[in-house]
Amino acid sequence: TKRTPLIAGNWKMNLDHLQAVALVQKLHWALKDAKHEDGSVEVAVFPPFTDLRSVQTLLDADKIAFTLGAQDLSTHDEGAYTGEISGAFLKKLAVSQVIIGHSERREYHAETDEVVAAKVQAALRHELVPVICVGETSEDLEKHGASAVPVAQLEKAIAGVPADAEIVVAYEPVWAIGSGQAATPQQAQEVCAKLREVLADRLGADTAARTRVLYGGSVKAANIASFMREPDVDGALVGGASIKVDEFASIIRFEK
Ligand code: G3H
Repeated sequence: TKRTPLIAGNWKMNLDHLQAVALVQKLHWALKDAKHEDGSVEVAVFPPFTDLRSVQTLLDADKIAFTLGAQDLSTHDEGAYTGEISGAFLKKLAVSQVIIGHSERREYHAETDEVVAAKVQAALRHELVPVICVGETSEDLEKHGASAVPVAQLEKAIAGVPADAEIVVAYEPVWAIGSGQAATPQQAQEVCAKLREVLADRLGADTAARTRVLYGGSVKAANIASFMREPDVDGALVGGASIKVDEFASIIRFEK
């Protein structure tokens, strides 16, 4: 099965709305004639909630072929949940993907596997593609090896997900995030292959074959190709490098 590579930029809590719009505009210029234009690579941007409308307006006005994503959503659909953002709101802003269970949410906002699973369900209720993040800390790595924790996290996150749902999985070793110390392509491949086995086991071989599994953690222009050469790595979830125009454009233009 051919899977369209996905290069996803998670801006995290960076850029005000003017900077957000400027980044998208400049990226669009930098990518004229790049392969995302012919659909052979999907590019997604994940701005903060407050930038979603400005970015969506620009994508629409200039017919820019980036997918719009959000960084989180509420487990609830509406109601007395001060400060929360529902999948319904995101859907109305033409958001199509949503990051769920990023390690920064798990660590700083006490998101458990149960919360992550509930958010995956919330996303699917609103026809948003959940980008489910899993990954081990350096402590987990020492104690259990690389794949045990991400495998367990994914199993819990996809419990109750129907086999025909579109999901994306992002393997992000916590020790590689923002550290400048990326996993090796072999390490990424090994865990991504195990995650695909989980998909096959729980959701069936067809779903496993069509679902994109991304690597994330200190991805940059200089190392993207080495990850993309691995058979089970279908793209990247990029943090720091995604808010630098030239760097992110070079990542998107990777050549295997
Ligand atoms: O969501 C993105 C990841 O946390 C990776 O961040 O590229 O800055 O290491 P990074």
